[in-house]
Amino acid sequence: MRRFLITGGAGFIGSRIALRLQEFYPKAYILVVDNFSSGYFKTLYGFKGDILAGNIQDKEFWNYLKSQYTSFDAVFHNAAITDTTILDQKYMMEVNTNSMKHIIDACIKWDAKLIYASSAGVYGNTEAPMKEDKGLIPENVYGFSKLIADNIILNAMSQHIPLKAVGFRYFNVYGMGEQYKGKTASMIYQLAMQMKSGKKPRLFKWGEQKRDFVYIEDVLQANMKALERYEVSGIYNVGYGKARSFNDIVNILNKLMSTGYEVEYFDCPYEFYQNYTEADITKIKANLGYEPKFDLETGIEHYLKSLKVI
Ligand SMILES: NC(=O)c1ccc[n+]([C@@H]2O[C@H](COP(=O)([O-])OP(=O)(O)OC[C@H]3O[C@@H](n4cnc5c(N)ncnc54)[C@H](O)[C@@H]3O)[C@@H](O)[C@H]2O)c1
Repeated sequence: MRRFLITGGAGFIGSRIALRLQEFYPKAYILVVDNFSSGYFKTLYGFKGDILAGNIQDKEFWNYLKSQYTSFDAVFHNAAITDTTILDQKYMMEVNTNSMKHIIDACIKWDAKLIYASSAGVYGNTEAPMKEDKGLIPENVYGFSKLIADNIILNAMSQHIPLKAVGFRYFNVYGMGEQYKGKTASMIYQLAMQMKSGKKPRLFKWGEQKRDFVYIEDVLQANMKALERYEVSGIYNVGYGKARSFNDIVNILNKLMSTGYEVEYFDCPYEFYQNYTEADITKIKANLGYEPKFDLETGIEHYLKSLKVI
């Protein structure tokens, strides 16, 4: 019987991984760990596995897990402070970075492959397309916490610690399961909801900032490939591989929802704001066989249908 542990499994991406594993491996034992700080139980409707409420920062919690479970095939680590506007540096580093050491220890004990969520935030405002080994100048403590977590993993592997690990630097993920994230949900979701409720879409001036938007199905593809290619380790960008603007999103939504909203532009209140992100996905294509299937038009259409908006 295969055994999987998912940290942050009540969150957007973690819950989708839990449900996809359940679908692909119906006989597997699947354990979700979450402290429900930004996650929500409703993301796990339909989940038949086990759930343990706990805090990944807590060493005693990991000792408990290690004493209760003898093995896992893989640990999908997604728990994190995900609100990138949080400025409390100590808190961010404690959750997103320090916890990595407990997780590595546990993976070594269980001989489990670690498949974890890093972020495109590690690249800050450096030149796009972003490549895994350059431009590592995060602009906020969230991106910094993820970069140091990546370094901890790379150092562990370079010291020949018997660890297999894949880190995914997600770009802007959108799709089912993010509805409970409030203001940190994707702009695609927020704009769709504004327009559905009859409000004008609102964007920072002038909507031409570009992002690499990646649909949850492609993110799941990457995770399942990392599991299938069990011997492959490394850190990889996960995006669609093409930057698109916020104005593009509004145009696509208008077309799909048969509306004709004009955008209301307003000043960006943030001192730091990424203006252009685009993933270079050469490495993940070569090493994991990742092939994104959902461009922005296809992804938004699939998403709106799942949300029953169209
Ligand atoms: N969604 C994106 O666009 C995106 C982009 C880049 C990186 N990521 C990364 O992907 C991962 C998942 O993000 P998401 O969008 O699903 O966010 P999310 O906020 O929905 O999920 C994070 C989950 O972690 C849990 N959590 C937080 N602190 C915890 C703790 N101390 N102990 C146990 N559980 C804890 C939360 O309750 C939540 O369920 C995160 O690591 C995030 O940094 C996401």
